[in-house]
Amino acid sequence: MTTAVGKKIAIIGSGLMGSGIALIFAQKNFQVALYDTQEEAFSQAKANIRTNLELMAQHGIGDQREVDYVLDRVSSSLELRKAVQDANFVIECAPENLELKQNLFQELDSLCPRDTVLATNTSVISITEIAQKAHFKDRVIGTHFWNPPFLIPLVEVIRTENTSEEVFAKTFSLLDQIGKHPVRVNKDVPGFVGNRLQHALWREAISIVERGIATADTVDECIRYGFGFRLPTLGPLENSDMVGTDLTLAIHQYILKHIENSPEPSPLLQKMVDQGSLGFKSCQGFFEWTLEEREASKKRLNQYLLKQLSS
Ligand SMILES: NC(=O)c1ccc[n+]([C@@H]2O[C@H](COP(=O)([O-])OP(=O)(O)OC[C@H]3O[C@@H](n4cnc5c(N)ncnc54)[C@H](O)[C@@H]3O)[C@@H](O)[C@H]2O)c1
Repeated sequence: MTTAVGKKIAIIGSGLMGSGIALIFAQKNFQVALYDTQEEAFSQAKANIRTNLELMAQHGIGDQREVDYVLDRVSSSLELRKAVQDANFVIECAPENLELKQNLFQELDSLCPRDTVLATNTSVISITEIAQKAHFKDRVIGTHFWNPPFLIPLVEVIRTENTSEEVFAKTFSLLDQIGKHPVRVNKDVPGFVGNRLQHALWREAISIVERGIATADTVDECIRYGFGFRLPTLGPLENSDMVGTDLTLAIHQYILKHIENSPEPSPLLQKMVDQGSLGFKSCQGFFEWTLEEREASKKRLNQYLLKQLSS
C-alpha cells in the first residue's frame, strides 16, 4: 500500500476556503488547479492568496520574494474535466448545499482516475450523504479545514463506513506533508468533533444573554480572560484529569440540569436574524460595529494567529 500523493491538487470552488487551501498547497510546491462556476472567483482568489502570502511573509512565515512563484503554481479553469486532469487529490469547497455537493461528487467520480482521492471540506454535512451518488465510495473522505485555513493548524479527517484505510492513510500523510495538524474522526456524525464542541459553547453563550444572566460583553470576557486563556495549552479532558474526574462528576451532577439543552436555535438568535441584525454584515449583532471596529477585529484575529504560529 502506498500512502504517497502526487503533486497536483484540484480545488473545486474558489471562494474563501478554496483560495485559502490553494495557498497552503501552492506554498508547499504543489501544482494547484482551481475550478469554479464563476470566472470572477478566480481573480478574487488570486488576490486573496497574494494578500495573505504577503501578510504571512511580514510575520516571517514564507518569503515575500516567493509570492509570485507561489501564485504561478495556481491555475484556474471553468471546465471541471480540465481542472481535475492529472490531479491525485481533489478537495471540494463549493457552497454548503447537499444536492450541489452530491452532484459534484457524482461527476468527480466519473471524471477522475480510480486512485484519485475525493475530499470534501463541508462544515457539518454527512460525508456519507455527500458520497451517495458516487460509484466508488471508498475514495470519498471529509477534510474539514478551519478558517483561515492557512493559519489554523487543525484539519478534521472524517471517514465514512465505506472510506478505505488506504484513502484515510493517504489523506493523513498529505496533510502531514503540508504542515497541518490532522486528527482522526472515526464516525461520520453531523458537525464532526470541532463544530459539535464549538456550538455547544455558543448555544450556552447565547442562552446566558437571552436569560439576562450577563451581557454579551461579559460572556466573551469570561471566555477570553478565563478558561479560554488556557485552552490553547489545556483541553477540557486533560483539564478534567488535572482537577480529578471525581470533581468533574460532582460538578456535572449539580450543574448539567441548569445548562441550556434546547435542540432548536435560540429564539433570541432567530429574532436578531429576522430583524436584520446580522453582525458584521449589518454593523449590528450582539454588539454594535463601526466599519473601523469591524476591520480592527479581523486584523486583531489575524495578528494573534500569526503570532501564535511564528512563536
Ligand atoms: N467559511 C468558513 O469559515 C468555512 C470553514 C470551514 C468549512 N467551510 C465549508 O467550505 C465550503 C466552502 O465555503 P466558503 O466559505 O469557501 O464559500 P464561498 O461562498 O466563499 O465559496 C464558494 C465558491 O464555490 C463556487 N461555486 C458555486 N457553485 C459551484 C459549483 N457547482 N461547483 C464549484 N464551485 C461552485 C462559488 O462561485 C464560490 O466561489 C462550504 O462547504 C463551507 O461550509 C467554510
